[in-house]
Formats: sequence, C-alpha cells, structure tokens
Amino acid sequence: MITKLKVGVLISGRGSNLQALIDATAAPDFPAEIVLVISNKADAYGLTRAQNAGIKTAVINHKDFTTREDFDRAMDQKLKQENVQLVCLAGFMRLLSPWFAEEWRDRLINIHPSLLPKHKGLNTHEAAIAAGDTEHGATVHFVRPALDDGPIILQASVPIMPGDTPDTLAARVLEQEHIIYPRAVRLYAEGRVNVIEEKVFIVN
Ligand code: GRF
Repeated sequence: MITKLKVGVLISGRGSNLQALIDATAAPDFPAEIVLVISNKADAYGLTRAQNAGIKTAVINHKDFTTREDFDRAMDQKLKQENVQLVCLAGFMRLLSPWFAEEWRDRLINIHPSLLPKHKGLNTHEAAIAAGDTEHGATVHFVRPALDDGPIILQASVPIMPGDTPDTLAARVLEQEHIIYPRAVRLYAEGRVNVIEEKVFIVN
C-alpha cells in the first residue's frame, strides 16, 4: 500500500476536469486520492460525478457569507477537517481571498484554459481567436492572490485552425486539460514539483 496525498477539489460547475482527476486517481498506483469535493453551487454537475465515485462532497454557498474571506475560511475549515494536503481548483468560479491564497501557498493549484501569461480571466478562447494567435492551450499553475497568476507547473498547446469558433477551440483545449491536470497532480504527489524564487522546477 502506498500512502496517497489527500486532495480536495473546488468546483462550481460541470466538473469535467474533476472527472479527469477522479479517473486518474482510480488507478491503484496513482499517488493521490480525492478526499473531498466542495462546490459553491448546489446544482453543480461535478457533485454528481463525485458522489458516483463515492467521494465526500460539501456545498458551501458563497452567498451565505458577508465577506469573501469568511467564505474562504469556511472552505478552509472543511478542507482541514479532511486533512487535505493539496487543493485543486477545477472550474471554481470564485476569486479567492489573499488570505486563502497565502494559507494554502504552494499547496493550491488551478487549471486555466490559456497559455498563461496570455489571456487571463474569462472568455479565453474568444480572446485567443480575436488576438489572431496561432496557438492556444491550457496551464496548470500554483495560485497566488492575483488572478490567474503564479508559478507554472505544466502547459499544453494546441493549434488554432482556420474557421475555429470559441467552442471548437475550447473542445480542443479541454482534451489537453484532462491530460495535464492529472499529470501535474501526480508530479506534485510524487514530491517532484519545487518552487524556487517563483519558478517551478520538476525533479526527475
Ligand atoms: C475549464 O476550462 C478550466 O480550465 C476552467 O474552467 C473550465 C472548467 O470546466 N478553469 P470543467 O468544470 O472542469 O468541465
């Protein structure tokens, strides 16, 4: 039996990246396990995916809190109750407070659908097409207080084809997201991801 890293996943919606993580962690030799999924939305389909996989879920509605930090502290408490060691944002559509980003510094990662530092924020596929980019992609990175900022762990790029719409491009990128997110979690769980002066070094 290997000791597995305990992962908590934060979602807001359909949870296809969560599913990719669930599928990867199902392999007996995968060095991490998902112990908790938190959604800020009660109707997030990702909750059903987690329940189908027998993973504990919690709904914490941000509207029940007066400040962003109060909401984040409620999530923090749940994560710590389950002894979570790594938090993965997977389509979690809330900005995190600087407090949370610091509390989980270097133990909190996100997947963003662009080749960061290009196209931070929302509507990245539209933005990449509008900018006339010839390639686009996805990034797994550590979270810092600034939006879509932080040391980059892995990226995958895809070509932008003539005639691409935001939807066709999003589908091409999403396929890559589902590959690199589990890969990044594996590297992290194997203790091979080091942050030195805000740059990631992967140990072979
Ligand atoms: C993904 O494109 C992810 O990169 C972004 O939000 C989307 C979430 O999709 N952060 P899903 O909920 O994982 O299907």
